[in-house]
Amino acid sequence: MPESDTLISLDKVSKCYKAHSIDAVKEVSIDICRGEFVAIMGPSGCGKSTLLNLIGAIDRPDAGSIIFDGQTLTELDDEALTRVRGEKIGFVFQAFNLLPTFSVLENVLVPIELNKAKQLQSAEKRAKELLHRVGLESRANFFPAQLSGGEMQRAAIARALIHEPKLLVADEPTGNLDTQNGEKILDLIKEFNRDFKLAIIMATHSKEASGKADRILQMRDGTLLLVESSEPSGPRSGALHAPSSSGGGATHTPSSSNESA
Ligand SMILES: Nc1ncnc2c1ncn2[C@@H]1O[C@H](COP(=O)(O)OP(=O)(O)OP(=O)(O)O)[C@@H](O)[C@H]1O
Ligand SMILES: [Mg+2]
Repeated sequence: MPESDTLISLDKVSKCYKAHSIDAVKEVSIDICRGEFVAIMGPSGCGKSTLLNLIGAIDRPDAGSIIFDGQTLTELDDEALTRVRGEKIGFVFQAFNLLPTFSVLENVLVPIELNKAKQLQSAEKRAKELLHRVGLESRANFFPAQLSGGEMQRAAIARALIHEPKLLVADEPTGNLDTQNGEKILDLIKEFNRDFKLAIIMATHSKEASGKADRILQMRDGTLLLVESSEPSGPRSGALHAPSSSGGGATHTPSSSNESA
C-alpha cells in the first residue's frame, strides 16, 4: 500500500488539566504532512506546549484521536507509545536538556542507548556526522558546561536526529538564544527539514522563527484559529476546515510553491 502523505492527523483532540480545571487544548483537528514545517504561535498559556506534548506522544489526550504514521496513538499502551516516541520522534526544547555528566558525543547517543533497535557502532558514526553537520565536530568530547548556549542547542538537535525520526518537535528552540544564534538554529532546522524530508512542528513566539515554516498556526485559548502561509503574498493559503462543533480545525495545504531559502 502506498504511504499516505499525511504523517500526523489529529481529530478533535482535547486535554484538560483536571486538578486545576484548565482546558489547555480544546477539540483541535489538524493534519500535518510528511516533510512539512509547521509553526505554532500564540500568547503564553494558550496551549502550545501541551499540544506539542500530545503530538510528540509525551502526553495523552482526554478526548479525540491522534494518528501518527498510520498508527492510532490513542489506542496504544504505554510501552507501544514509548516505542513510537523513541523510534520516530525527536525533541528539542528551549532549555536544551543535555545531560551534564555526559560528553557531547555521549549526549547525542543517549536516544540510541535507550532504544536498542540500532547498533551502537553505526550510531556513533552517524552521531559524528551529525556533529559535523551542526558544526560541533571539534566539541564532541566537551561537556555541556563547556559549550555556549547556541552550541548546546546544536548538540540537542544532533541528539534529536540520531535515530532518524520522521518528526522533530521543537518547543521554542530559540527562546534562550540571542538573535544570531537563534538564526543559526533555525537555519539548521530548516536544512534538516529540506534535506531529510523531516517534518517539523515548532512552537515559537518569534516572527523570524515562524517565517521559516511552510505553515503558521495561530493558537488562542486552547484552539487553533487559522492557518497562514509563511509567505506574505504567496499563492498558498491554508484552508480552515469548518469545525463541526466548537473546536478549531485546520487542514493541510500541500507545499507546492518555492520556499524562500
Ligand atoms: N501540568 C500542568 N498542570 C496544570 N496546568 C497546566 C500544566 N501544564 C500547563 N498547564 C496550563 O495549561 C495552559 C497551557 O499551558 P502551555 O504550557 O501549553 O502553554 P504555552 O502556550 O506553551 O505557553 P508558553 O508560551 O508560556 O510556553 C496554561 O494555562 C497552563 O497554566
Ligand atoms: Mg510552552
